Amino acid sequence: MNDAVGPMRATNAGRGPVLITGGAGFLGSNLADRLASEGHEVVVLDSLVRPGVEGDLARLQERHPHRIRAITADIRDGRAVAEAVREARVVFHFAAQVSVTASLADPISDFTVNVGGTLILLEALRARGDGTPLIFAGTDKVYGDLADIALESTPEAHLPADLDLRAAGIAETHPLSFRTPFGCSKGAADQYVLDYARSFGVPACVLRMGCICGARETGGEDRGRIAQFMARAMAGEGITIHGDGRRVRDMLDVEDALEAFCAAWRNIDRVTGRAFNLGGGPANAVSLRQIVAFIERLYGRPVPCDHADRRPGEPLWFVSDPREIRQALALPAPKPWQAGLRALAIRLATERLARHERERVAEAVS
Ligand SMILES: NC(=O)c1ccc[n+]([C@@H]2O[C@H](COP(=O)([O-])OP(=O)(O)OC[C@H]3O[C@@H](n4cnc5c(N)ncnc54)[C@H](O)[C@@H]3O)[C@@H](O)[C@H]2O)c1
Repeated sequence: MNDAVGPMRATNAGRGPVLITGGAGFLGSNLADRLASEGHEVVVLDSLVRPGVEGDLARLQERHPHRIRAITADIRDGRAVAEAVREARVVFHFAAQVSVTASLADPISDFTVNVGGTLILLEALRARGDGTPLIFAGTDKVYGDLADIALESTPEAHLPADLDLRAAGIAETHPLSFRTPFGCSKGAADQYVLDYARSFGVPACVLRMGCICGARETGGEDRGRIAQFMARAMAGEGITIHGDGRRVRDMLDVEDALEAFCAAWRNIDRVTGRAFNLGGGPANAVSLRQIVAFIERLYGRPVPCDHADRRPGEPLWFVSDPREIRQALALPAPKPWQAGLRALAIRLATERLARHERERVAEAVS
């Protein structure tokens, strides 16, 4: 239901660059690449706090020297944010503290970045007051640990006993239940975005994502776990699984996710004030054990697995019901998760070969 007050003034479509906060990170840099390739001028606002993103941003700027401009700033820096928003035609908000573990270690930082930073951005849009749209990268963590859903466990996966729920997934009507400081901060930001659409008419919508994967996934502890698994498996190293490995998520390829973000921008007049679950849906539901088995088949050898405690707040099963967003934004069926993992395996292997070649040449010429 869209109960937003009307647009602030004439929409700002067609003028100024696209602003991507967190545009040096995994999703933001992929979106920047796509939009620049389509001919858009893009401004990336990022504090570069995530290790390794400077290199990704530099490569992005090399690919699009005249289309991508970077502002190194913190999302909590009101002046920098207001300046970047002042010229933007649309804002995609990806900048966030993204780790549950870090939020448990430092809830205040998590809150100031995820809630405070989002509020600063919303205020800049409200001050501008001309209907510049905002698309917010939300999370399915807003539905909590789903501990009240009865599960049946097979050797491969935990699945809902309710077969209708198993087939449909979790809809947007499911009650919100924030768990962990990260769940609270992203959930509060999600609600602020929706409320700025209602209270102030800022054209804004929320896309609640789960497990996004694909060729340009970045690895790293607590994030990009699939890329991390694959890189380690390729190197013949073991991996650590939190919990028993039967936890099920619906994977969505990054290209499909970005298509949804672009479609939300194109259709902002129809979707403002709404939140959608954005995932691969029941057709792309898979457990960690099944992913590991797939990786083992890809590399033709077993992957040694250690087990650690299940992460706090993590449901044993989460699959999003994709019907609402597909219908609202006319999205195609998502790519199968296996295609994303194959593309990721090829990228990792190509990078490894290039690294070897660089080292070989460096040694030969030294
Ligand atoms: N990737 C997923 O599977 C997934 C799933 C659900 C939700 N999300 C959401 O999507 C968004 C992007 O996720 P991602 O996977 O690309 O993460 P990422 O860590 O790769 O990117 C986040 C970017 O934000 C920047 N950043 C962090 N704190 C900042 C600050 N205070 N000021 C300015 N920039 C800051 C980082 O340097 C990084 O470049 C996040 O909001 C995340 O919660 C992602």
